[in-house]
Amino acid sequence: MLLDRSFRRTLIARLLSSAGPSAAAALLVAAPGCGGEPEADEAAAETRCFEWFDELGACLSREQAFEEFRTIHPFCVSDEEIVSVESEATRRDGACCYEVIVEPASPCAVGRPFSLEGQRRTAAPRPDEAGWLARGQGAGPGGLQPSLADLTDEERETLAEGWLRSALEEHASVASFARFALDLMALGAPSSLVEAAHIAALDEVGHARLGFSLASAYRGEPVGPAALPMPRGVPVAADLVALARAAAEEGCVGETVAALVAAEQRARAVDPAVGAALEAIADDEARHAELAWLTVTWAIGVGGEPVRSAVADVFEAAAKSLRRPPPAEAEPPRGRAAALAAHGHLGDAALRALSRAALAQVVLPCARALGLWRPRDLDSTRAPAAS
Ligand SMILES: [Fe+2]
Ligand SMILES: [Fe+2]
Repeated sequence: MLLDRSFRRTLIARLLSSAGPSAAAALLVAAPGCGGEPEADEAAAETRCFEWFDELGACLSREQAFEEFRTIHPFCVSDEEIVSVESEATRRDGACCYEVIVEPASPCAVGRPFSLEGQRRTAAPRPDEAGWLARGQGAGPGGLQPSLADLTDEERETLAEGWLRSALEEHASVASFARFALDLMALGAPSSLVEAAHIAALDEVGHARLGFSLASAYRGEPVGPAALPMPRGVPVAADLVALARAAAEEGCVGETVAALVAAEQRARAVDPAVGAALEAIADDEARHAELAWLTVTWAIGVGGEPVRSAVADVFEAAAKSLRRPPPAEAEPPRGRAAALAAHGHLGDAALRALSRAALAQVVLPCARALGLWRPRDLDSTRAPAAS
């Protein structure tokens, strides 16, 4: 699946602008494809292997292998998840192989997450009582009203579920930006970043309203969020390293992917109301991605090498995630899938393919062009590609 070329090009130029126009131009001219995805080796259902050379010595221990296999951040790039490593390594033809327990990956969550103690948090849905439908929009007359005429009951149900899931994630992004603004304040960030964080939180309120409105329209009754589960004290980032790591994960990766996914959804959306909503969301997400890259650049400028190293680790994890088995091929959008895509629903297989493309074609090339990450050569301290 190809990303929208013009949106991708514009986004790359924006993300690199903090490094000056020459860096953006160099990337766009020299590497229009911006790299590519590493190929995953074939693997049997319950056995997974690392390519391994004799010069590297013994295979990784079971615990080390799990660290290498596991998804460090939910990058939404594979439809399987390795939840445990059950055996020590066995050598096979230049590889170290392990028996592993594999489970289907959770559904893709796209956008800036609100994470506490390593867990993404979203609210539960409930009948809307708190004004989370866009004003004059939703299931009622006027405003944001998609056409329901050609949809079956089953398609309406799928669209209601899909838009509700994304609305709940957008709703959680409001909290994520609220905390991010506090993080910035606590670490003495420039006013431009603090201002942009608050504007982004308001954007996310708008995205959530659009999502709940569309979900309500497809469902035929108003639906909104219950309270967002939150402890009494929400911790702010302890230091610049923590701030930059979170900005890299949630923003440079999460929001950049979200912008490209929204642009792809918009490109396929036929319904005018859905198209208008996605147009606004894609533009906002691109701005949020830009904010994250600017934040990381600022944090490195102030905090130096420890911050740079933490940020590089995030991009390295993203690069590593691309070596995981790719998801099953997405069905071409015909019949039911085309009807759903016309209303902004792409499905998990397409989202995973898009996420992979966004990492390979935008996130990692931009990180490389900005000097934030470079592919790590095989050495004795790191495992090579997992398959
Ligand atoms: Fe959003
Ligand atoms: Fe966002």
